[in-house]
Amino acid sequence: MLPDPTRIEEAVALLNAGELVAFPTETVYGLGADARNPVAVARIFAAKGRPVGHPLIVHVSSLAAAQEWIADLPDTARRVAVALWPGPLTFVLPKAADVPVAVTGGQSTVALRAPAHPVARALLAAFGGGIAAPSANRYGRISPTRAADVHEELGDRVALVLDGGACEVGLESTIVACLGGCVTLLRPGAISRSQLRDVVGEVSDADAASPRAPGRDRSHYAPRTVLAIIEAARLRSEIERALASGERLAVIARSVAPVASDQLVWRQLDKQPAGYGRALYAALRELDRVRASRILVEGVPDDEPWAAIADRLRRAAAQDADGAVTDAT
Ligand code: TXA
Ligand code: MG
Repeated sequence: MLPDPTRIEEAVALLNAGELVAFPTETVYGLGADARNPVAVARIFAAKGRPVGHPLIVHVSSLAAAQEWIADLPDTARRVAVALWPGPLTFVLPKAADVPVAVTGGQSTVALRAPAHPVARALLAAFGGGIAAPSANRYGRISPTRAADVHEELGDRVALVLDGGACEVGLESTIVACLGGCVTLLRPGAISRSQLRDVVGEVSDADAASPRAPGRDRSHYAPRTVLAIIEAARLRSEIERALASGERLAVIARSVAPVASDQLVWRQLDKQPAGYGRALYAALRELDRVRASRILVEGVPDDEPWAAIADRLRRAAAQDADGAVTDAT
């Protein structure tokens, strides 16, 4: 969907006035505010119900625009950005001295992303500055991949929602920290570890010493209905057992339903990871509404193209017994 110049102008006026504007990126919709305005940034936390202290991603139009937010551009980050920006990729880098604390959560680093979506790019070009934006969902909930999802999540907590259609990727960006000579994968996404490795050589995994990214906490991206991941080989027997005991089930699988039952709501997603990832959050939202006792998700392959999907499914499954999430952004 192409940007509407009148809506972009309206969005820029709202951002300049310290208001919140939701906008599409190719990953998920973001809830944006002027990253230089701490009062506007505070509104993001209030609208999401997100605890303060969780750092935000600053969205910029280019590597050149990113420079004003950082103290230093490591050569690794420069090479990766040249190869893969704009795109579904966020860098964590040493911050410049004047980045508002509200954005960094008091850390010594800042997260930066140049998105590729034409509406996001038009907004960033017209606004001219950085836009701080987390995913445009209430804290702990599923990220929105359509404008209607943002309205459902935030209602009138957001001044304007720019509609850019359904997000092409559908899962949050890959986050990579380039600090102290190390390149560390903090969150898997559409840009794979191999793509990063092809540019910089070694890419390590996050460990206790890595920058804290609350989106990496175990429970996140969760529907309200209890979600369980079931290995493909066990799916049919698990369904038969649950139906026999009177459960109403929702299922996400790559296969067709093995049995027909009015206790069963079945969503078949793409066999390829790109199509699966694009449709996953909308399917979770929809199945959250069908009053199932559980959402069962057929296990996905344990290989790199499925890494981001497997990560989000694990987090969606990590709920408290009452379905509440414990920490999420
Ligand atoms: O695809 C995306 O990344 C979307 C779109 C809107 O750009 N944004 C997004 O933002 O997913 P959010 O806030 O929902 O998740 C960003 C994650 C959070 O887990 C946050 O803790 C982490 O990035 N993060 C932000 N700044 C960081 C920093 N300086 N160091 C470590 N992690 C950081
Ligand atoms: Mg989020």
